[in-house]
Amino acid sequence: MTSPSLPLIPAPQSWTPSIGFFPKAHLQSVPLIQNLDAAADLPSPEEEILEPGLADESYRLVIRPDGMELTAHSRSGLFRGTQTVQQLMDAAGDSIPCGIIEDFPGFAWRGMLLDCARHFMPLSVIKETIDQLAYHKFNVLHWHLTEDQGWRLEVPAYPRLTEVAAWRTQWDGTRYGGYYTSEDVREVVAYAAERFITVVPEIELPGHSVAAIAAYPELSCTGLPLEVETQWGVFKDVYCAGNEKTFEFLEAVLTHTLDLFPSHYIHIGGDECPKDRWHACPKCQKRIAQEDLAGEHELQSWFIRRIETFLKENDRRLIGWDEILEGGLAPSATVQSWRGIRGAIAAARQGHDAIVSPTSHCYFDYDVATLDIRQVYTFNPRPEKLTDEENQHILGGEMNLWSEYIPPERLSKMVFPRMTAMAECLWTDNEKRSFPEFLQRLRPHVEFLKSAGVNVGPADQPVNYKAEFLEDSATTVVKLSLDSELVKAMRGHDLDLRQRAIFRHETPGYQPDLRVEDMVLPPVRMSDPLVAKNLIMVWPDSDTPWDLMVVQLFIDGLAYGTPTVVERSHNLAMGRQPQLLHQASSRYPGGGALSLCNGLLGTRNFRDGFWSGYEGNDLNATVDLGENKKITRISIRFYQGATAWIFLPSTVEFQVSNNGLDWESMALIGHDVSPSIQDRVIYDFAVEDVSLQARYVRIIANSLGHCPDWHPGAGRDCWVFADEIVVQ
Ligand code: ACM
Ligand code: ZN
Repeated sequence: MTSPSLPLIPAPQSWTPSIGFFPKAHLQSVPLIQNLDAAADLPSPEEEILEPGLADESYRLVIRPDGMELTAHSRSGLFRGTQTVQQLMDAAGDSIPCGIIEDFPGFAWRGMLLDCARHFMPLSVIKETIDQLAYHKFNVLHWHLTEDQGWRLEVPAYPRLTEVAAWRTQWDGTRYGGYYTSEDVREVVAYAAERFITVVPEIELPGHSVAAIAAYPELSCTGLPLEVETQWGVFKDVYCAGNEKTFEFLEAVLTHTLDLFPSHYIHIGGDECPKDRWHACPKCQKRIAQEDLAGEHELQSWFIRRIETFLKENDRRLIGWDEILEGGLAPSATVQSWRGIRGAIAAARQGHDAIVSPTSHCYFDYDVATLDIRQVYTFNPRPEKLTDEENQHILGGEMNLWSEYIPPERLSKMVFPRMTAMAECLWTDNEKRSFPEFLQRLRPHVEFLKSAGVNVGPADQPVNYKAEFLEDSATTVVKLSLDSELVKAMRGHDLDLRQRAIFRHETPGYQPDLRVEDMVLPPVRMSDPLVAKNLIMVWPDSDTPWDLMVVQLFIDGLAYGTPTVVERSHNLAMGRQPQLLHQASSRYPGGGALSLCNGLLGTRNFRDGFWSGYEGNDLNATVDLGENKKITRISIRFYQGATAWIFLPSTVEFQVSNNGLDWESMALIGHDVSPSIQDRVIYDFAVEDVSLQARYVRIIANSLGHCPDWHPGAGRDCWVFADEIVVQ
């Protein structure tokens, strides 16, 4: 792109500057497209929003000292141009440099999946999201409306969908839910259409359908009553493929859906459909025999084809997740590739269209430590393996906002700022993009969004760390490293890392109010950022039992990214290698047995390397303190994440001994944490206020052994995750 770049995200395809400036004061407001006389001769807006990519969205904006001229071949092109004008007006400064912007989208499909089923999103949030999408030149809102945990679309012929399927009873007994009336849906569709955004509804089938089955049990293979799911995951009860009632239901739902949504494309899910029930169901087996299918995978394919035929008869097109490739693709299906890009490659090679949204770049429900903005920015929906001709089938991409862990009030923080990177990946041609240059535009853009009231989350976690207890010197060191690519991109800027082990506290799990602005002692300045690639901090001595080290990167004096927080417990077991009856799983060794006694506490991410995991086994650990010690408190923390099959132990027994042979039981401690809590829990099992002398401490934590009956992993081995043994 020609320098200097304009304050626009996504960057335009072409910018040719000329002499002079347009004073912003000359333009009072940016008109919505309906009010532009110039649009009078163009096709109606309805025609343009049925199918993304149908309309030519290109526009040309000429900026002169005395005015601006916006031209386009379509209303949507004009609208995209108005958003460019709006961003130029919103940027700092009183004037806009003169020149010509010639712009067009790199991809016809530029979308966001919004999951309103796991968490119900009010209309106000949906409209705000649509505004933000429009501002960044997206053109698809993929509205995920049905799930195991809730059905959100009112369908008059099936009232139990809104009476029963729209509500779930949470672990604490409260009812959670909501749904959209036909009027709500029409409002959303119209609001999006005014911004030239197509709303593509997703009605999931044959899997992820527990909520509908809870309302109408006859739709499942077993016909047995079920509750609307409260857990996250993949569930075995799915629509019965052998039962005509299933298709009667789905066709009625889809007929109503088609009535509400003008979109040519209808998403039918198709992902994550376990075949267990079909395997055991006489009706499904009869269907397999009658249709001469090779098994349950072909039955899934048959199911999708049947729905596809129905949609085709109604002049609509089917989209499904990449699982619809299994057992043979329906003739006119579009594939949305999420398990990497393999699905898109396979679809394109078979001559089918594809939408690309791999977990590696597009799953914005992942936190920024897993998917940061730089990784998003490397997204290229066009697989290199495909020929130019095959690549014609790649319509574009989507960012996926699955909402298991995203209630509406957190949505914006997960969307921003990463969606700005996605906007540019889908609009601006690859060879015109540069991450460092993008970052230059991003900073003022984010400042503007914040000033406009947008709740912007972190862009990434730039500081990586490794904390270790060194046995020889009995010290704790924290090795910090800056993400080198980010650091490279930030050359010429003033970078500093600020650290202090500020938060000393009396109980574990302390959550300080992290006011990073206060973190001024002692700043570690880095005139050459690369010097700080491996910065080692020795943990200051502490006489309090627990403390937190907090590290924050500052760029040009502003906090950047999420702070790094390491929690330590200074205690008698620190550095004492425990003896384990059952070793931790090789998948989650937590850095070896010593990690249970290295003083460093696991975070809310059970993959952080501090937690050790025991599959199907109890944890039985013995710590030798070296000599008889006065003990006042013993504790150990466990993790629960039901979605990951990790449960708190039912009980934890604490024993002590002077000789390692004769053991005295101190306490058997249970807990009142429900295993079905949807959130992650860290629980501290402790014997408090004791007064004894002992050399050995033994902890026996009784695993549930198997996942509970109601859990998707019912009967299979569950996990116990432990960190850290603390003896005071
Ligand atoms: C998906 O993430 N199951 C499409
Ligand atoms: Zn069946």
